Amino acid sequence: MLELDRLHRRFGDVLALDGLSFSVARGELCGFLGPNGAGKTTAMRAVLGVTRLDDGEVRWDGQPVDRAVRRRTGYLPEERGLYPKMRVTEHLVYLGRLHGLTAADAEQRSQRLLDELGLSDRAGTEIESLSLGNQQRVQLAAALVHDPDLLVLDEPFSGLDPIAVDTMSAMLRERAAAGAAVVFSSHQLDLVEDLCRTVAVAAAGRVVLSGEVDALRAAGERRLHVGAAMPVDWRSLAADDALLAHASDHEATFVLTPDADPVGVLDGVRRTTSVTAVSLTRPRLSELFRDAVGSHRLDPPSGPTAASSERGAP
Ligand SMILES: Nc1ncnc2c1ncn2[C@@H]1O[C@H](COP(=O)(O)OP(=O)(O)OP(=O)(O)O)[C@@H](O)[C@H]1O
Ligand SMILES: [Mg+2]
Repeated sequence: MLELDRLHRRFGDVLALDGLSFSVARGELCGFLGPNGAGKTTAMRAVLGVTRLDDGEVRWDGQPVDRAVRRRTGYLPEERGLYPKMRVTEHLVYLGRLHGLTAADAEQRSQRLLDELGLSDRAGTEIESLSLGNQQRVQLAAALVHDPDLLVLDEPFSGLDPIAVDTMSAMLRERAAAGAAVVFSSHQLDLVEDLCRTVAVAAAGRVVLSGEVDALRAAGERRLHVGAAMPVDWRSLAADDALLAHASDHEATFVLTPDADPVGVLDGVRRTTSVTAVSLTRPRLSELFRDAVGSHRLDPPSGPTAASSERGAP
């Protein structure tokens, strides 16, 4: 199990990590989310020891992460670190050997990964002459070449076409199913909702929402959309556990608390007319994200002090 425990890191005036904590078990595929500047990259760098912490600790199986653990870790950094003049296989074999593989094992693993990623025909190509998306695939192969127990991937899906997204999703699922702890950052919330069992959402250096995606969605407010054959006095059907969010003559949307029974609203409609449409939806991860992050977002002050040095801040 990977544990990030109350990580603190300050860069000058910016508190990048402000007590950030979450954990990822072996076999778990965890999406690490958060708006630009939330601290995701800083936290992942701290796991790899690329950035130092002011306070807090990163542990693997209860012990502080050390060089031996990092050798068993696959890392895809935000600033992509390929050697542009190296050829693809040469690069992967080199990295595999750095992580302790024999030359033969490194060759074999590289070939298998390039096959999986649909890059076999590029094995002898110089990295700099690959397209951006194909360089990205090589990056993933580089993170996986030594068959790591822990995978830490900073926005691995950025710049990939939909087919490559599917391929990479399948590979991450497979690594987690084989027992690795996998954590990756992403801004693609629908992808994360489909792919990950768990998520951690960071904002301003802290985790503001975490847990199993299904449980988080199940605990959220549901939306009930109802259509009616004749105009309905929708306001009379609203209740404390079924708030009216939107209404027109023939249709309405209610926001239901987790315990509310949608049949109450439907029965109300049927007292005057027939129900023509009904749907009950869980909040999407993207809605939960907006709710969780919204209240933690610091609006930049107006006026001359609004200028911010924050990279990527909206
Ligand atoms: N080396 C650094 N020097 C100064 N400030 C830094 C440094 N690294 C990160 N920061 C600041 O720390 C905060 C968190 O940055 P970080 O890169 O961890 O965010 P992020 O969640 O990865 O964002 P994004 O989604 O844009 O990649 C930001 O305000 C950033 O400007
Ligand atoms: Mg980042």
